[in-house]
Amino acid sequence: MKENELKSEIRRLLKKKNAVMLAHNYQRDEIQEIADICGDSLGLTQAAAKLDAEIIVFCGVHFMAESSAILDPDKKILLPNEEAGCPMADMISAEKLAQRKKEEPDLTVVWYVNSPAAVKAESDICCTSANAGNVVNSLNGHGRILMVPDKNLAKHTAKFTDREIVPWEGFCPTHHRFIQMEDVLQCKKEHPEAKFMAHPECTPDILGQADHICSTSGMYKYAKECDSQEVIVGTESGILYRLKKENPGKSFFLPSPNVICPNMKVTTLEDVLEALIHEKHQITVPDEVRVKAKRALDRMLEVPREN
Ligand code: 13P
Ligand code: SF4
Repeated sequence: MKENELKSEIRRLLKKKNAVMLAHNYQRDEIQEIADICGDSLGLTQAAAKLDAEIIVFCGVHFMAESSAILDPDKKILLPNEEAGCPMADMISAEKLAQRKKEEPDLTVVWYVNSPAAVKAESDICCTSANAGNVVNSLNGHGRILMVPDKNLAKHTAKFTDREIVPWEGFCPTHHRFIQMEDVLQCKKEHPEAKFMAHPECTPDILGQADHICSTSGMYKYAKECDSQEVIVGTESGILYRLKKENPGKSFFLPSPNVICPNMKVTTLEDVLEALIHEKHQITVPDEVRVKAKRALDRMLEVPREN
């Protein structure tokens, strides 16, 4: 099938099956183009929870679809390509977290949404890159806070609170390894008037170079509002699709062409069509995990967004 035929067949089936297609801001251009809603992890979680649809086709990675399945077990949540995992989410497990809590019972655990459901169930509250500071500051008491699994987000969040933040040793390979200081400095040299916006999953030295640090959706806002015509983008390449579309007069540059998350790119239009036809691959979370994880997600949804 040609691309246009695939797109119209997907749209036809979405309507017929009372289904909604969500896409993360890093998805392939053609997926974002036909999705009903595009957004960051927080935006998509909030949107999915409010939707009045029988089926949600979640074009993102596994933990994102899982968050929707936790919040709304009555909907059919489909992940079009089962290979779409997140290596950062795999850097923690419920067993490792339980062991750590046993060794240090005073720790309050804040989980970054990029974690498996079983870890979510062992934690006190969730956060995303759009609300981590507000989440940490919403917690009562004075004890230390263990932030799992992203050490870079944890170190960044520590700047906005008096609480002691203990980072877990996880990271996002795409941001941590492929956004390198020499590339950022070279890009700044080539575009001296450009602003640099970066995702908090980047390393602290890269964040030290940034004019603005925010979630992926925060980047659309900043790109529109900032007075510069040129913007260097410290996050995954998929974000360029809408940045260029929404800001035709501005230019956007990645520090390196390698800033790609293979897991975000694995989902194709063919996968979406197959998922819709056969209503596969459904993401479910067993009730004993789901109910506990939902508590931590619901607590987060009460906290306002920062960026
Ligand atoms: P956002 O929530 O900012 O979209 O980030 C999700 C993610 O996976 C970043 O790598
Ligand atoms: Fe996971 Fe990084 Fe890919 Fe986001 S960009 S899904 S954190 S590997």
